[in-house]
Amino acid sequence: MQIEQFVTAGKFRLDGGEWDVENNVYVLAATPGADAEVYIVDPAHDAAEVYRRVGDRRVRGVILTHAHNDHCELAPEVATHYGVDVYLHPGDQELWEESNGSAPYQPLAHGQTLHLGEEEITVLHTPGHSPGCVVLSIPSEAALLSGDTLFNGGPGATGRKYSDFDTIINSLREVVFALPADYRVLPGHGDSTTISAESARLDEYIARGY
Ligand SMILES: [Fe+2]
Repeated sequence: MQIEQFVTAGKFRLDGGEWDVENNVYVLAATPGADAEVYIVDPAHDAAEVYRRVGDRRVRGVILTHAHNDHCELAPEVATHYGVDVYLHPGDQELWEESNGSAPYQPLAHGQTLHLGEEEITVLHTPGHSPGCVVLSIPSEAALLSGDTLFNGGPGATGRKYSDFDTIINSLREVVFALPADYRVLPGHGDSTTISAESARLDEYIARGY
């Protein structure tokens, strides 16, 4: 599987505040080439750039790691453009409604597997940053799309509504850090890291409280 990444810029809004933010958008492709099938993960801020990056390839669906507005509010438009479904964990229903009202999505479940050709994308539910956060494990590439659950240097923020620090630490300990140590971690914002680099710092995260 090819994992393509690009950055778009826009606004993150929650609890009445608004912040400038850059998001990592991922395109997962079954095989290299113009005729490959792809999933789009967290298309953010700039639909034209998403369409440009996807090109002529056939889109299978739009997968969301969670329903904060910066990750999800473009998803219905992109999904409609390609005639495909949005996939989201229903734990983020309330956040989804705040951005996208009654727009439809297909519910993701912990342990669910999506397929691209012979390769698999495994959905792991990792609440904490939001109740419906998921990460996407791609065993064939030894890679994890970690959304806002794990960044280079620490867990996702838990200071705003629907977030909980103890819950994200539990998700890291029980789910994310149970993955192989050599996995690359490709987050929703900022630089990549590895499971081994971050799991070694779990006690540090807990001690500082973020
Ligand atoms: Fe987020």
